[in-house]
Amino acid sequence: MDDIQSQFVEKILANTSAALKTTGEAFAPSNIALCKYWGKRDASLNLPINSSLSISLGKLGTRTSIRVSDVDRVVLNGAELDAESSFALRVQGFLNLFRPALGDPCFEVITENNIPTAAGLASSASGFAALVLALDQLAGWNLGRRELSMLARMGSGSASRSVFEGFVLWHAGCLTDGTDSYAHRLDYEWPEFRIGVLELTASAKPVGSRDGMNRTVETSALYESWPAQAGADLVAIRDSIASRDFRLLGKTAERNALSMHATMLSAWPPLLYLMPESIEQIHKVQRVRSNGLEIYLTIDAGPNIKLLFLADNEQDVCAAFPNLQVIRPFD
Ligand code: PMV
Repeated sequence: MDDIQSQFVEKILANTSAALKTTGEAFAPSNIALCKYWGKRDASLNLPINSSLSISLGKLGTRTSIRVSDVDRVVLNGAELDAESSFALRVQGFLNLFRPALGDPCFEVITENNIPTAAGLASSASGFAALVLALDQLAGWNLGRRELSMLARMGSGSASRSVFEGFVLWHAGCLTDGTDSYAHRLDYEWPEFRIGVLELTASAKPVGSRDGMNRTVETSALYESWPAQAGADLVAIRDSIASRDFRLLGKTAERNALSMHATMLSAWPPLLYLMPESIEQIHKVQRVRSNGLEIYLTIDAGPNIKLLFLADNEQDVCAAFPNLQVIRPFD
């Protein structure tokens, strides 16, 4: 926790008054970016270089409850975490930002992910979003979604998008104080939209997204082209959602993800998140698509592949990719 972070949280909470309840509980969905966030303009306030656009995963996400306690405790999926474990320390560090506003209490945090843990779906996004929503309940602040999005952003950038359902746009903003960098929901539903998760490997990523982004921004010559590309991709994806042009959406999202991986690959030391199985599946998606099935892919900072397709093609996609876990974000 640094002074800049504390001041930011203080500013967001400035017009609230706390009315502490016994417990706060909330759910937040996980999300997958169709136009990725990659690169920070301010590491302390988690301010991104580019805006991003995601789809939230409906009922898949994190449920968290929080209450005041004698000591800090974090229980994840039924097991109490060692206070020195990296996740517990990250949660404690995040909660430190809010303790002064509540009379310096300790907290018990009970958190459950219903996302298959090995699926490579960002759990920090839904985790920090659910924690902020639960904290808002506990404290009785009654913050608006914009403020909640900015507070979730302080835990993990992509968490700023997980306080909303459906298609979500996170504005990079341009102010140095971080008050114009928040997400909002786009007013479109697309019930036929499907995401397929190809679980290729459950191993932890060798370099987390925070370090990976910093390394890319500092050392990759290709990164220079990323902000403009992401900006153009975001407009195309937003338009494709508005006009339900799935081909444009899929093509743009796939190229956006692969462009992000190109910037990673050209960093030094190189960041190679893809595994042999990932490459094999990328080839397979291209093959299946050239045979006429409308299917695209996206990949985050990890080896797992997510497929994008529409309900009409669900049966054929499942036949081509056995073991696919299909997510219906609007169910
Ligand atoms: O929010 P973070 O620090 O977990 O970074 C997310 C980075 C990507 O998943 C690769 C892209 C994104 O926009 O979610």
